[in-house]
Amino acid sequence: MKKVILITGVSSGFGKESARLLAEAGHTVYGTVRRDCETDKSVNVLRMDLTEPASISGAVETVIKKEGRIDVLINNAAMHSAGPVESIPEEFIKLQIDTNFMGMVRMTRAVLPHMRKQGSGTIINFSSIGGLMGLPFHAFYSACKFAIEGFSEALRMEVRQFNIKVVLINPGDFNTNNTMSRRNFLSPTGPEDPYNKQFMTALSVMERNELAGSKPSKLAAKIGKIVGKKHPNQRYIIGAFHEKMAARLKYFLPGKLFRWILEKNYKMK
Ligand SMILES: NC(=O)c1ccc[n+]([C@@H]2O[C@H](COP(=O)([O-])OP(=O)(O)OC[C@H]3O[C@@H](n4cnc5c(N)ncnc54)[C@H](OP(=O)(O)O)[C@@H]3O)[C@@H](O)[C@H]2O)c1
Repeated sequence: MKKVILITGVSSGFGKESARLLAEAGHTVYGTVRRDCETDKSVNVLRMDLTEPASISGAVETVIKKEGRIDVLINNAAMHSAGPVESIPEEFIKLQIDTNFMGMVRMTRAVLPHMRKQGSGTIINFSSIGGLMGLPFHAFYSACKFAIEGFSEALRMEVRQFNIKVVLINPGDFNTNNTMSRRNFLSPTGPEDPYNKQFMTALSVMERNELAGSKPSKLAAKIGKIVGKKHPNQRYIIGAFHEKMAARLKYFLPGKLFRWILEKNYKMK
């Protein structure tokens, strides 16, 4: 069945590829951007910034006016800052939370009344492997993704009575703009700072893994399948074998052993 889909953040990465693929499959796709950029011609582009509530309600109202419904909301857009907890300026901590968590909450709350009215809908929320385990020097990114996990699990139970499904996506390392656009905050005390040495080492492992990661089209293809399912799973962990394993091992291994493995992986020893 062809659906009306609203997806956030189609200027690059997963959003761009997913929007293109979903439109190619015949769905009516609306994708949001916050700046002039190249997008697929088959995608209807809307201006929206997750930190500007009026632009969120404006985007949702435009889709409702034109299509009368929204079958699928894909909360994909996010930003990324990294660094020692002590080094990230408070304004960036707030910006991260406002964008990644509050922005997703605003989108969801704007779309829910329409889905309730139509008696159906699917909300697909982008979490991360970092939403299942805290990643070093990504405390606020992980905190936002953990928040999305809790929010989605609670919401799922609230809206099931209205035939609205809530799906979590946990990508592993993929090669997207995310690597280049991540804002890295070194400790201001200089290169000899113990945080900075560990941070730069852990970051180089992450960047190497992301650059060697799969293309976003792999994840987009999975999103295409999920959108087509009548009964999608509650969660999809999409990544390399060791990333899927790590997500499961966290629940079986003793906490200290799991932390040791993570620290070794990020060369923090
Ligand atoms: N790539 C990975 O390895 C990975 C792993 C786990 C989870 N994820 C998650 O996957 C999702 C997509 O990330 P990606 O890798 O595709 O990154 P990306 O290529 O950097 O795309 C992020 C998108 O979000 C948009 N965005 C950022 N701030 C926004 C704001 N305030 N308002 C509206 N849109 C905003 C960006 O727009 P601009 O172009 O204007 O900045 C861009 O379109 C995110 O939720 C991310 O956390 C990615």
